[in-house]
Amino acid sequence: MRAQVGIVGAGPAGLTLALLLERAGIDCVVLESRTREYVEKRVRAGLLEQNTVDLLHELGVGERLAREGLEHRGIFLRHRGHTQHIDMAELTGRHITIYGQQEVVKDLIAARLDLGAPLHFEVSEVAIHDLEGERPRITYTHAGSEHELACDAIAGCDGFHGVCRPSIPLGLLTEHESVYDFGWLGILAEAAPTTDELIYGWHENGFALYSMRSPRISRLYLQVPADEDIERWPDERIWEELQTRLAAEGWSVGEGPIFEKGIAPLRSFVAEPMQHGRLFLAGDAAHIVPPTGAKGLNLAVNDVRLLAAALVDWFRTGSSAGLDGYSTAALRRVWRAQDFSNYMTQLLHDLGGGEFQQGLQLARLEYLERSEAAARSLAENYVGLPAAGDF
Ligand code: APR
Ligand code: PHB
Repeated sequence: MRAQVGIVGAGPAGLTLALLLERAGIDCVVLESRTREYVEKRVRAGLLEQNTVDLLHELGVGERLAREGLEHRGIFLRHRGHTQHIDMAELTGRHITIYGQQEVVKDLIAARLDLGAPLHFEVSEVAIHDLEGERPRITYTHAGSEHELACDAIAGCDGFHGVCRPSIPLGLLTEHESVYDFGWLGILAEAAPTTDELIYGWHENGFALYSMRSPRISRLYLQVPADEDIERWPDERIWEELQTRLAAEGWSVGEGPIFEKGIAPLRSFVAEPMQHGRLFLAGDAAHIVPPTGAKGLNLAVNDVRLLAAALVDWFRTGSSAGLDGYSTAALRRVWRAQDFSNYMTQLLHDLGGGEFQQGLQLARLEYLERSEAAARSLAENYVGLPAAGDF
Protein backbone atom coordinates (compact mmCIF):
# COMPACT_ATOMS: atom_id res chain seq x y z
CA MET A 1 0.00 0.00 0.00
CA ARG A 2 1.07 3.57 -0.73
CA ALA A 3 0.09 6.99 0.60
CA GLN A 4 1.86 10.30 0.33
CA VAL A 5 1.46 10.83 4.07
CA GLY A 6 0.89 8.19 6.74
CA ILE A 7 -0.75 9.67 9.84
CA VAL A 8 -0.54 7.82 13.15
CA GLY A 9 -3.35 8.81 15.54
CA ALA A 10 -6.89 10.08 15.01
CA GLY A 11 -7.04 12.77 17.68
CA PRO A 12 -7.52 16.46 16.83
CA ALA A 13 -3.97 16.68 15.40
CA GLY A 14 -4.15 13.68 13.05
CA LEU A 15 -7.70 14.31 11.86
CA THR A 16 -7.18 18.03 11.21
CA LEU A 17 -3.94 17.31 9.34
CA ALA A 18 -5.71 14.69 7.20
CA LEU A 19 -8.41 17.18 6.18
CA LEU A 20 -5.89 19.94 5.44
CA LEU A 21 -3.88 17.58 3.22
CA GLU A 22 -6.83 15.99 1.39
CA ARG A 23 -8.09 19.48 0.62
CA ALA A 24 -4.78 20.16 -1.13
CA GLY A 25 -5.03 16.89 -3.08
CA ILE A 26 -2.48 14.99 -0.98
CA ASP A 27 -3.58 11.48 -0.13
CA CYS A 28 -3.08 10.12 3.34
CA VAL A 29 -4.02 7.15 5.48
CA VAL A 30 -4.95 7.65 9.15
CA LEU A 31 -4.29 4.81 11.61
CA GLU A 32 -5.89 4.82 15.07
CA SER A 33 -5.42 2.20 17.77
CA ARG A 34 -8.76 2.77 19.55
CA THR A 35 -12.33 2.24 18.36
CA ARG A 36 -14.28 5.07 16.75
CA GLU A 37 -16.67 5.02 19.69
CA TYR A 38 -13.82 5.38 22.18
CA VAL A 39 -12.23 8.42 20.53
CA GLU A 40 -15.62 10.08 20.04
CA LYS A 41 -16.51 9.65 23.71
CA ARG A 42 -13.14 10.46 25.28
CA VAL A 43 -13.79 13.49 27.49
CA ARG A 44 -11.10 16.17 27.28
CA ALA A 45 -10.98 19.95 27.54
CA GLY A 46 -13.22 22.16 25.45
CA LEU A 47 -11.96 25.65 24.86
CA LEU A 48 -11.19 26.77 21.33
CA GLU A 49 -9.14 29.81 20.42
CA GLN A 50 -10.40 31.93 17.58
CA ASN A 51 -7.57 30.62 15.34
CA THR A 52 -8.88 27.10 15.87
CA VAL A 53 -12.50 28.07 15.24
CA ASP A 54 -11.48 29.91 12.05
CA LEU A 55 -9.55 26.90 10.78
CA LEU A 56 -12.42 24.48 11.46
CA HIS A 57 -14.74 26.77 9.48
CA GLU A 58 -12.21 27.02 6.66
CA LEU A 59 -12.12 23.21 6.54
CA GLY A 60 -15.91 23.05 6.25
CA VAL A 61 -16.38 21.36 9.64
CA GLY A 62 -17.71 24.36 11.54
CA GLU A 63 -21.44 23.95 11.01
CA ARG A 64 -22.32 22.25 14.30
CA LEU A 65 -19.66 24.30 16.08
CA ALA A 66 -21.41 27.48 14.93
CA ARG A 67 -24.75 26.13 16.17
CA GLU A 68 -23.75 24.51 19.46
CA GLY A 69 -20.49 26.23 20.43
CA LEU A 70 -20.78 28.83 23.17
CA GLU A 71 -18.97 32.03 22.25
CA HIS A 72 -17.54 33.82 25.28
CA ARG A 73 -16.18 37.35 25.61
CA GLY A 74 -13.85 36.56 28.47
CA ILE A 75 -13.35 34.82 31.80
CA PHE A 76 -13.85 35.56 35.48
CA LEU A 77 -11.09 35.34 38.06
CA ARG A 78 -12.40 34.84 41.58
CA HIS A 79 -10.63 34.94 44.93
CA ARG A 80 -11.99 35.36 48.45
CA GLY A 81 -15.49 36.02 47.09
CA HIS A 82 -14.27 38.83 44.86
CA THR A 83 -14.88 38.46 41.12
CA GLN A 84 -12.97 40.14 38.36
CA HIS A 85 -13.95 40.00 34.70
CA ILE A 86 -11.25 39.85 32.05
CA ASP A 87 -13.06 41.10 28.97
CA MET A 88 -10.96 39.51 26.27
CA ALA A 89 -13.15 40.67 23.41
CA GLU A 90 -12.68 44.29 24.50
CA LEU A 91 -8.98 43.87 25.25
CA THR A 92 -8.05 41.92 22.11
CA GLY A 93 -10.97 42.02 19.66
CA ARG A 94 -11.02 38.21 19.73
CA HIS A 95 -13.31 35.59 21.25
CA ILE A 96 -13.08 32.12 22.74
CA THR A 97 -15.54 29.30 22.10
CA ILE A 98 -16.59 26.45 24.36
CA TYR A 99 -17.07 23.23 22.39
CA GLY A 100 -15.98 19.82 23.72
CA GLN A 101 -12.91 18.29 22.17
CA GLN A 102 -14.80 15.07 21.49
CA GLU A 103 -17.35 17.08 19.50
CA VAL A 104 -14.51 18.46 17.36
CA VAL A 105 -13.26 14.89 16.90
CA LYS A 106 -16.75 13.66 15.90
CA ASP A 107 -17.08 16.41 13.28
CA LEU A 108 -13.60 15.71 11.87
CA ILE A 109 -14.24 11.95 11.65
CA ALA A 110 -17.58 12.50 9.92
CA ALA A 111 -15.93 14.83 7.39
CA ARG A 112 -13.18 12.31 6.62
CA LEU A 113 -15.59 9.41 6.21
CA ASP A 114 -17.78 11.59 3.96
CA LEU A 115 -14.78 12.03 1.69
CA GLY A 116 -14.44 8.25 1.58
CA ALA A 117 -10.82 8.72 2.67
CA PRO A 118 -9.01 5.95 4.57
CA LEU A 119 -9.25 6.09 8.36
CA HIS A 120 -8.68 2.76 10.12
CA PHE A 121 -9.67 2.24 13.73
CA GLU A 122 -8.50 -0.59 16.01
CA VAL A 123 -5.12 -1.03 14.37
CA SER A 124 -2.45 -2.67 16.53
CA GLU A 125 1.29 -3.31 16.53
CA VAL A 126 1.94 -0.01 14.80
CA ALA A 127 5.64 0.50 14.07
CA ILE A 128 7.45 3.06 11.91
CA HIS A 129 10.60 2.31 9.89
CA ASP A 130 13.24 3.86 7.59
CA LEU A 131 12.68 7.39 8.82
CA GLU A 132 16.03 8.51 7.48
CA GLY A 133 15.36 7.27 3.96
CA GLU A 134 13.10 8.54 1.18
CA ARG A 135 10.44 5.89 1.64
CA PRO A 136 9.52 5.58 5.34
CA ARG A 137 7.10 2.75 6.17
CA ILE A 138 4.42 2.01 8.72
CA THR A 139 3.65 -1.59 9.60
CA TYR A 140 0.51 -2.51 11.52
CA THR A 141 -2.13 -5.13 12.06
CA HIS A 142 -5.74 -4.46 11.13
CA ALA A 143 -8.72 -6.82 11.18
CA GLY A 144 -6.45 -9.79 11.81
CA SER A 145 -3.97 -9.23 8.98
CA GLU A 146 -0.60 -7.51 8.73
CA HIS A 147 -0.14 -4.44 6.53
CA GLU A 148 2.66 -2.25 5.31
CA LEU A 149 2.15 1.34 4.20
CA ALA A 150 4.92 3.01 2.22
CA CYS A 151 4.87 6.83 2.45
CA ASP A 152 6.79 9.94 1.52
CA ALA A 153 6.39 11.31 5.05
CA ILE A 154 4.93 10.17 8.38
CA ALA A 155 3.03 12.40 10.80
CA GLY A 156 3.30 11.26 14.41
CA CYS A 157 0.00 12.48 15.86
CA ASP A 158 -0.33 9.64 18.35
CA GLY A 159 -0.40 11.58 21.60
CA PHE A 160 1.87 11.53 24.62
CA HIS A 161 1.90 7.70 24.95
CA GLY A 162 2.23 6.95 21.24
CA VAL A 163 4.95 5.02 19.38
CA CYS A 164 6.29 7.75 17.07
CA ARG A 165 8.28 9.91 19.51
CA PRO A 166 10.05 6.87 21.04
CA SER A 167 11.01 5.75 17.49
CA ILE A 168 13.43 8.66 17.21
CA PRO A 169 16.91 7.29 18.03
CA LEU A 170 18.08 7.94 21.56
CA GLY A 171 20.22 11.04 21.91
CA LEU A 172 18.65 12.97 19.02
CA LEU A 173 15.74 14.26 21.06
CA THR A 174 15.86 16.56 24.06
CA GLU A 175 12.91 16.14 26.40
CA HIS A 176 12.00 18.85 28.90
CA GLU A 177 9.57 17.89 31.60
CA SER A 178 8.05 19.31 34.73
CA VAL A 179 5.50 17.23 36.62
CA TYR A 180 3.31 18.96 39.19
CA ASP A 181 2.45 17.29 42.47
CA PHE A 182 -1.24 17.95 41.95
CA GLY A 183 -3.85 16.96 39.38
CA TRP A 184 -7.36 17.99 38.39
CA LEU A 185 -10.47 16.11 39.39
CA GLY A 186 -12.93 16.83 36.57
CA ILE A 187 -16.67 16.22 36.45
CA LEU A 188 -19.48 16.56 33.95
CA ALA A 189 -22.90 17.17 35.51
CA GLU A 190 -26.44 17.56 34.28
CA ALA A 191 -26.74 21.01 35.78
CA ALA A 192 -27.45 24.37 34.19
CA PRO A 193 -24.35 26.56 34.65
CA THR A 194 -25.02 29.47 37.01
CA THR A 195 -22.35 31.51 35.28
CA ASP A 196 -22.30 32.65 31.66
CA GLU A 197 -18.51 32.62 31.42
CA LEU A 198 -15.78 30.45 32.94
CA ILE A 199 -14.73 31.11 36.54
CA TYR A 200 -11.11 30.44 37.51
CA GLY A 201 -11.13 30.31 41.31
CA TRP A 202 -8.19 30.88 43.66
CA HIS A 203 -8.72 29.47 47.16
CA GLU A 204 -6.62 28.49 50.20
CA ASN A 205 -7.88 24.90 49.72
CA GLY A 206 -6.68 24.89 46.11
CA PHE A 207 -7.81 25.85 42.62
CA ALA A 208 -11.31 25.31 41.19
CA LEU A 209 -12.65 25.93 37.67
CA TYR A 210 -16.25 26.36 36.60
CA SER A 211 -16.68 25.54 32.91
CA MET A 212 -19.55 24.17 30.85
CA ARG A 213 -20.47 22.26 27.73
CA SER A 214 -24.00 23.51 26.99
CA PRO A 215 -26.81 25.47 28.67
CA ARG A 216 -27.65 22.24 30.53
CA ILE A 217 -24.27 20.61 31.14
CA SER A 218 -21.60 21.89 33.53
CA ARG A 219 -17.93 20.92 33.51
CA LEU A 220 -16.07 21.58 36.76
CA TYR A 221 -12.60 20.91 38.09
CA LEU A 222 -10.89 20.79 41.51
CA GLN A 223 -7.19 20.76 42.26
CA VAL A 224 -6.38 17.53 44.14
CA PRO A 225 -3.09 15.78 45.10
CA ALA A 226 -1.50 14.00 42.11
CA ASP A 227 -1.86 10.57 43.70
CA GLU A 228 -5.43 11.18 44.91
CA ASP A 229 -7.81 8.22 45.01
CA ILE A 230 -11.09 9.09 43.27
CA GLU A 231 -12.91 6.89 45.80
CA ARG A 232 -12.24 9.59 48.36
CA TRP A 233 -14.45 11.97 46.38
CA PRO A 234 -18.11 10.95 46.58
CA ASP A 235 -20.41 13.40 44.75
CA GLU A 236 -21.46 15.25 47.92
CA ARG A 237 -17.86 16.02 48.81
CA ILE A 238 -17.16 17.31 45.28
CA TRP A 239 -20.11 19.72 45.38
CA GLU A 240 -19.26 20.88 48.88
CA GLU A 241 -15.69 21.65 47.90
CA LEU A 242 -16.73 23.40 44.67
CA GLN A 243 -19.16 25.58 46.65
CA THR A 244 -16.38 26.46 49.09
CA ARG A 245 -13.67 27.22 46.56
CA LEU A 246 -15.91 29.14 44.13
CA ALA A 247 -18.04 30.93 46.76
CA ALA A 248 -19.40 34.44 46.19
CA GLU A 249 -22.09 36.26 48.11
CA GLY A 250 -25.67 35.49 47.08
CA TRP A 251 -24.52 32.98 44.47
CA SER A 252 -23.83 29.25 44.27
CA VAL A 253 -22.65 26.60 41.84
CA GLY A 254 -25.59 24.87 40.11
CA GLU A 255 -25.67 21.22 41.19
CA GLY A 256 -27.05 18.15 39.41
CA PRO A 257 -26.34 14.47 38.72
CA ILE A 258 -22.66 13.81 37.96
CA PHE A 259 -22.25 11.48 34.94
CA GLU A 260 -18.48 11.59 34.43
CA LYS A 261 -15.70 11.82 36.99
CA GLY A 262 -11.93 11.44 36.65
CA ILE A 263 -8.53 12.65 37.83
CA ALA A 264 -5.83 13.76 35.39
CA PRO A 265 -2.24 14.65 36.30
CA LEU A 266 -0.74 18.02 35.35
CA ARG A 267 2.39 18.00 33.26
CA SER A 268 4.53 20.37 31.19
CA PHE A 269 6.51 18.57 28.50
CA VAL A 270 8.37 19.51 25.31
CA ALA A 271 10.34 17.26 22.95
CA GLU A 272 12.82 19.02 20.66
CA PRO A 273 13.13 18.90 17.71
CA MET A 274 9.66 17.87 16.57
CA GLN A 275 11.04 16.03 13.54
CA HIS A 276 13.54 13.41 12.53
CA GLY A 277 14.17 12.56 8.87
CA ARG A 278 10.76 12.02 7.29
CA LEU A 279 8.91 11.83 10.64
CA PHE A 280 7.11 14.93 11.91
CA LEU A 281 5.55 15.03 15.39
CA ALA A 282 2.45 17.12 16.10
CA GLY A 283 0.22 17.74 19.13
CA ASP A 284 0.53 15.81 22.38
CA ALA A 285 3.11 13.48 20.78
CA ALA A 286 5.56 16.38 21.06
CA HIS A 287 4.30 18.49 23.95
CA ILE A 288 1.92 18.65 26.90
CA VAL A 289 0.77 21.77 28.74
CA PRO A 290 -1.10 21.92 32.04
CA PRO A 291 -4.77 22.63 31.26
CA THR A 292 -4.97 25.93 33.17
CA GLY A 293 -4.25 27.93 30.01
CA ALA A 294 -6.60 25.77 27.87
CA LYS A 295 -3.94 25.44 25.18
CA GLY A 296 -3.56 21.67 24.47
CA LEU A 297 -6.02 21.29 21.61
CA ASN A 298 -5.19 24.70 20.15
CA LEU A 299 -1.47 23.91 20.05
CA ALA A 300 -2.17 20.60 18.31
CA VAL A 301 -4.19 22.43 15.66
CA ASN A 302 -1.48 25.05 15.24
CA ASP A 303 1.18 22.38 14.70
CA VAL A 304 -0.74 20.72 11.90
CA ARG A 305 -1.59 24.05 10.29
CA LEU A 306 2.15 24.66 9.96
CA LEU A 307 2.94 21.06 9.03
CA ALA A 308 0.26 20.88 6.34
CA ALA A 309 1.49 24.10 4.70
CA ALA A 310 5.07 22.79 4.70
CA LEU A 311 4.06 19.39 3.27
CA VAL A 312 1.90 20.96 0.55
CA ASP A 313 4.79 23.20 -0.47
CA TRP A 314 7.15 20.22 -0.55
CA PHE A 315 4.86 18.07 -2.69
CA ARG A 316 4.08 20.95 -5.07
CA THR A 317 7.49 22.55 -5.52
CA GLY A 318 9.99 20.01 -4.22
CA SER A 319 11.33 22.62 -1.81
CA SER A 320 11.94 21.30 1.69
CA ALA A 321 12.50 24.73 3.24
CA GLY A 322 9.13 24.69 5.05
CA LEU A 323 9.59 21.15 6.31
CA ASP A 324 13.15 21.86 7.44
CA GLY A 325 11.86 24.79 9.48
CA TYR A 326 8.74 23.05 10.81
CA SER A 327 10.05 22.24 14.28
CA THR A 328 11.50 25.69 14.86
CA ALA A 329 8.29 27.39 13.74
CA ALA A 330 6.00 25.13 15.78
CA LEU A 331 8.16 25.31 18.90
CA ARG A 332 7.92 29.09 19.07
CA ARG A 333 4.21 28.85 19.79
CA VAL A 334 4.71 25.77 21.95
CA TRP A 335 7.12 27.57 24.29
CA ARG A 336 4.87 30.65 24.38
CA ALA A 337 2.01 28.39 25.44
CA GLN A 338 4.22 26.57 27.95
CA ASP A 339 5.07 29.88 29.57
CA PHE A 340 1.46 31.05 29.66
CA SER A 341 0.12 27.73 30.95
CA ASN A 342 2.77 27.70 33.64
CA TYR A 343 1.93 31.29 34.58
CA MET A 344 -1.80 30.51 34.91
CA THR A 345 -0.99 27.37 36.92
CA GLN A 346 1.32 29.24 39.31
CA LEU A 347 -1.14 32.11 39.64
CA LEU A 348 -4.08 30.00 40.76
CA HIS A 349 -3.01 26.71 42.39
CA ASP A 350 -1.94 25.89 45.91
CA LEU A 351 1.73 25.22 45.21
CA GLY A 352 2.50 24.26 48.78
CA GLY A 353 4.41 27.49 49.45
CA GLY A 354 2.30 28.70 52.35
CA GLU A 355 1.40 32.29 53.16
CA PHE A 356 4.30 33.91 51.31
CA GLN A 357 3.19 32.29 48.10
CA GLN A 358 -0.45 33.21 48.73
CA GLY A 359 0.65 36.82 49.22
CA LEU A 360 2.39 36.81 45.83
CA GLN A 361 -0.61 35.23 44.11
CA LEU A 362 -3.04 37.73 45.59
CA ALA A 363 -0.73 40.58 44.59
CA ARG A 364 -0.68 39.27 41.01
CA LEU A 365 -4.46 38.93 40.95
CA GLU A 366 -4.82 42.47 42.23
CA TYR A 367 -2.36 43.71 39.62
CA LEU A 368 -4.49 42.12 36.90
CA GLU A 369 -7.39 44.13 38.24
CA ARG A 370 -5.58 47.45 38.49
CA SER A 371 -3.50 47.33 35.35
CA GLU A 372 -5.07 47.11 31.92
CA ALA A 373 -1.65 46.22 30.52
CA ALA A 374 -1.48 43.17 32.80
CA ALA A 375 -5.04 42.12 31.93
CA ARG A 376 -4.35 42.58 28.22
CA SER A 377 -1.24 40.42 28.44
CA LEU A 378 -3.25 37.61 30.02
CA ALA A 379 -6.06 38.11 27.50
CA GLU A 380 -3.92 38.03 24.35
CA ASN A 381 -2.24 34.83 25.49
CA TYR A 382 -5.53 33.22 26.50
CA VAL A 383 -7.40 33.96 23.26
CA GLY A 384 -4.28 33.03 21.29
CA LEU A 385 -1.90 35.26 19.41
CA PRO A 386 -2.93 35.68 15.75
CA ALA A 387 -1.94 32.84 13.42
CA ALA A 388 -0.17 35.16 10.98
CA GLY A 389 3.59 34.66 10.62
CA ASP A 390 5.09 31.79 12.48
CA PHE A 391 3.53 32.54 15.85
N1 APR B 1 -1.15 3.78 16.90
C1 APR B 1 -2.23 4.44 16.46
N2 APR B 1 -2.86 5.39 17.20
C2 APR B 1 -2.37 5.65 18.40
C3 APR B 1 -1.25 5.00 18.92
C4 APR B 1 -0.62 4.01 18.10
N3 APR B 1 0.45 3.34 18.52
N4 APR B 1 -0.99 5.47 20.16
C5 APR B 1 -1.93 6.40 20.41
N5 APR B 1 -2.77 6.51 19.36
C6 APR B 1 -3.94 7.40 19.21
C7 APR B 1 -4.72 7.63 20.48
O1 APR B 1 -5.66 6.61 20.73
C8 APR B 1 -5.39 8.97 20.18
O2 APR B 1 -6.65 8.79 19.57
O3 APR B 1 -3.46 8.68 18.86
C9 APR B 1 -4.45 9.64 19.20
C10 APR B 1 -3.80 10.87 19.81
O4 APR B 1 -4.78 11.82 20.06
P1 APR B 1 -4.74 12.86 21.29
O5 APR B 1 -4.19 12.19 22.49
O6 APR B 1 -6.07 13.49 21.36
O7 APR B 1 -3.62 13.90 20.84
P2 APR B 1 -3.65 15.11 19.79
O8 APR B 1 -4.39 14.74 18.55
O9 APR B 1 -2.24 15.56 19.71
O10 APR B 1 -4.55 16.21 20.48
C11 APR B 1 -4.11 16.98 21.55
O11 APR B 1 -5.65 16.11 23.07
O12 APR B 1 -4.80 15.31 25.08
C12 APR B 1 -5.57 16.27 24.48
O13 APR B 1 -5.50 18.16 25.80
C13 APR B 1 -4.90 17.54 24.72
O14 APR B 1 -6.37 18.89 23.63
C14 APR B 1 -5.14 18.25 23.45
C15 APR B 1 -5.28 17.29 22.39
C1 PHB C 1 -12.92 22.79 29.90
O1 PHB C 1 -14.01 23.34 29.63
O2 PHB C 1 -12.81 21.56 29.91
C2 PHB C 1 -11.75 23.64 30.23
C3 PHB C 1 -11.86 25.01 30.10
C4 PHB C 1 -10.77 25.81 30.42
C5 PHB C 1 -9.60 25.23 30.88
C6 PHB C 1 -9.49 23.86 31.01
C7 PHB C 1 -10.57 23.06 30.68
O3 PHB C 1 -8.55 26.03 31.23
